[in-house]
Amino acid sequence: MALFQAEGIQKRFGARVVLENISLSIVEGSVHGIMGPNGAGKTTCFHVLTGHHVPDAGRIVFAGKDITGMKPHVIARLGVSRSFQIMNLFDDTVVIENVMLALPDFRAISGSPFKASFGDAKLVQAALAVLDQVGLADRAWDKAKELSYGNRRALEIAVALAAAPRMLFLDEPTAGLGGEATRALAQLIRKLRQTYTICLIEHDMRFLFELADRISVIHWGQVIAEGTPAELRANKWVARSALGEVA
Ligand SMILES: Nc1ncnc2c1ncn2[C@@H]1O[C@H](COP(=O)(O)OP(=O)(O)O)[C@@H](O)[C@H]1O
Ligand SMILES: [Mg+2]
Repeated sequence: MALFQAEGIQKRFGARVVLENISLSIVEGSVHGIMGPNGAGKTTCFHVLTGHHVPDAGRIVFAGKDITGMKPHVIARLGVSRSFQIMNLFDDTVVIENVMLALPDFRAISGSPFKASFGDAKLVQAALAVLDQVGLADRAWDKAKELSYGNRRALEIAVALAAAPRMLFLDEPTAGLGGEATRALAQLIRKLRQTYTICLIEHDMRFLFELADRISVIHWGQVIAEGTPAELRANKWVARSALGEVA
């Protein structure tokens, strides 16, 4: 059954139509891939699905609830988390503080949203448990900026997981990663998929075709092909274009 569904999403900025007609159906427990050339509208699509842009037309349903037009923090509270294409970590703070700041409990009790309280053992434990999910518990007290690029990516995912979501949107998680870090990230996503439903935008086709159950190909603001990796390998559209070369 679909946990997350978008139907006929349209988004324009002024006269420029960026999303013409996007429909997606993401099955609970699956990894759903989004691919397509630069400027196709993939990131804009994530912005719309997570409430950062209101669509001009279409409907978004999460866990049976119509979330179209809801504010990002409301959608987040319902169980939808996301990472951004550009990393936004607090570099000069320690790793664990990045996660603590994103914990719903912390947000609820804290007077100052920008200073984590390390005196609260329960919050520290909760943040450590999240870091453990991404393999960073032993780096909790290092400065965020001391992490390798791959570990920063994992920390960014931990920040998204701090909200205890059911659904996780990741925008180009392998961007800027070398081969080894990409393999480590693939391992992490295989582990996380046991707990979360995951939708990821990805340029690295090898990575995506290995991980995804289904993939939607977006071009010109439309879904031009959709299917399993095997189906897409056989798809004329995909095979003929540069998109198909690695597959
Ligand atoms: N806020 C905005 N205002 C105007 N144009 C935008 C805005 N956001 C994105 N776009 C345009 O939408 C198109 C798709 O962008 P984007 O969704 O970032 O593509 P992708 O992530 O597939 O590379 C681009 O041409 C971009 O310039
Ligand atoms: Mg993008």
